[in-house]
Amino acid sequence: MDFLDLVKSRYSCRAYTDQPVADHLIDEILAVGGNAPVGNGAYDSLIFTVVKSESALNRIREFSAKTGRDRSLGAKVIIFVSSNNLENLISYENVACAVDHMALAASNLGLGNCYLYGFIRDMVQENTPQLDVLDLPEGYVPAAALGIGYPVQSQAKLPKTELISKVKINRV
Ligand SMILES: Cc1cc2nc3c(=O)[nH]c(=O)nc-3n(C[C@H](O)[C@H](O)[C@H](O)COP(=O)(O)O)c2cc1C
Repeated sequence: MDFLDLVKSRYSCRAYTDQPVADHLIDEILAVGGNAPVGNGAYDSLIFTVVKSESALNRIREFSAKTGRDRSLGAKVIIFVSSNNLENLISYENVACAVDHMALAASNLGLGNCYLYGFIRDMVQENTPQLDVLDLPEGYVPAAALGIGYPVQSQAKLPKTELISKVKINRV
C-alpha cells in the first residue's frame, strides 16, 4: 500500500472477529517491529512476546475484565513489548517506536490493531499473577502491547480521505 494511504487507513480497532491471524502475518509484523529505530541500537533491551493461545489471552482478559479499563482485548493476538531498562525513559520511547512500526505493518496487512498501554501499566503496578503468562526473563517488564485481529467491519473506521495533522504545528 502507498505509505500515505497506509497512514490514512490505520486506526485503533476495538472490535475484532473470531478469525485467527496466520502465523506468517504475525511473523511479518514482528520483523517490522524488530527493525524499528532503537536508541543506541539497544535491541537486546527489548523482548516481543506473542500471546495468541485462547488460554493465555483469557488470563490476560481476566485482569482487564476486573479493571474494566480496556476495550481492546477481543484481539486474537497481543504482542507485548517488554524492556529490561524501564527506569531509563528512553526505553519507553524504544517500545513506542516498535509498537508503532508493528501497528503500521498490521494495518498494511488489512489487520485491525490497537496500541495497548493502560491495562499493562495496571498489571505491572499491581504485580498481578497474570504477568506469568508472558514468561519473561528476569528483569524484563512489559511496557506496552499491540492488539491485533480482523476488524468487525460494521465498526471499522473508513480510511481518512485527507491527511491533516491532529497535532498543533508551530513553525519558528
Ligand atoms: C502510548 C499510547 C497508549 C495507548 N493506550 C491505549 C490503551 O491502553 N487502550 C486503548 O484502547 N487505546 C490506547 N491507545 C490508542 C489511542 O487511544 C488512539 O491511538 C488515539 O485515540 C487516536 O485514535 P486512532 O489510533 O484511531 O487514530 C494508545 C495509544 C498510544 C500511542
